[in-house]
Amino acid sequence: MKRHLTVEDLARDGRFVRVNMEDRMNDPRNVGGPGAYGRDAAEQAGEGGRAGRVGLGRMVPDAPNAPDAARSLMHGIFVGEIQALEGAGRTCYDFDLGDGADQVPYALKLDMARQCWDEARHCEISVKLTEWMGTEIGEFTESPFLFQAACNPDALLRLAGVNRALEGLAIDVFNTMRDFGDKAGDPVLEFCEDWMLADEVTHVKMGSDWMRKLTVNDPERRARALEFQSVVDKLFSLGGGRSDDEDSPIRLARRFRQMAGFTDSEIDEIAEVSRQARNEAEDRVAARRAAMAAAAGSSPPAS
Ligand SMILES: [Fe+2]
Ligand SMILES: [Fe+2]
Repeated sequence: MKRHLTVEDLARDGRFVRVNMEDRMNDPRNVGGPGAYGRDAAEQAGEGGRAGRVGLGRMVPDAPNAPDAARSLMHGIFVGEIQALEGAGRTCYDFDLGDGADQVPYALKLDMARQCWDEARHCEISVKLTEWMGTEIGEFTESPFLFQAACNPDALLRLAGVNRALEGLAIDVFNTMRDFGDKAGDPVLEFCEDWMLADEVTHVKMGSDWMRKLTVNDPERRARALEFQSVVDKLFSLGGGRSDDEDSPIRLARRFRQMAGFTDSEIDEIAEVSRQARNEAEDRVAARRAAMAAAAGSSPPAS
C-alpha cells in the first residue's frame, strides 16, 4: 500500500463538498458570521472593541443565527474527526520502526492506533449529532486542513501540527460546544461534547509527551516542531475567532490545555498568536469596507 497519501488520495463519497480554508471561512453561516452571536459590532465597539470587529462574540443560543452557526461548527467537527482518524492512521503506517529521523518508536504507533479508535468513535458520535442538530453531510463544506498538517514528512512535526495545534483547537471548540449545549438546554449535545473533550485532552497530551521524549537530545528538531506548531496555531485561529478574549466565539480552554501538557507560557503564546490573527482579520475587514465606501463615493460605515 502507498505511503504518504495526499489530500487528493482521501476517499470521500458524493455527499462531501471540498473547499479551501478561505472559502470555508467566508461562508456567512460560519463561526464569526454576522448575527450569529447576538452581539453586533456597534455594541462591541461601545465596550472598547477595535474598530472593524464584525460578527465576533460569544455563541449564545437565542441569537438569530445561532442554530446555523452551531450546525456549521458541528459539521466542521465531524469532518475534522474524519481527517484526525485518517492522519493518525497514516502516522501508524507511513513510518518504519526505529530511532532515526524518518522512523518512529513502536509505542508512538500504539498511541496513534489508540487515537484511531477514539477518532472513529468521534466520527460516529459527530455524524449523529449533526443529524440531531438538524443538518446532514454536505450542507456545509469540508476543508482538508487537518489532514494537510498530517502530511508532514517528519512524524514529530505531524504530532506538533495535528495533536498539539489542531487537537488543541479541538479542545477549545468542544469546550465551547459543551457550554453551548448546557446553555441551550440540550443534554445530548452537552454530554457528547464532554466525552469527546476528554479524549481530545488525551490526544493533545500524547503530542506533548512525544514532543518531549523525541527531542530530549535534539533541541533543533524541537525548535522546528514548535515553529511548525506555531504556524498551524496562527493559521487556524479561525481569523481570531478562537482567542483568550471574553467575547470570542471560541475561547481558549486554559484548564484543559494545562491538563494536556501545555505550560502557562505556551498558552499565553497561543493567546498572543490568536490576538494577532484577530487583529489582522479585523484590519482586512476595515480595508474592505473602506474600499467599498470609496467605490461608492461615501465614507465607510461606522463599526
Ligand atoms: Fe476527535
Ligand atoms: Fe483527537
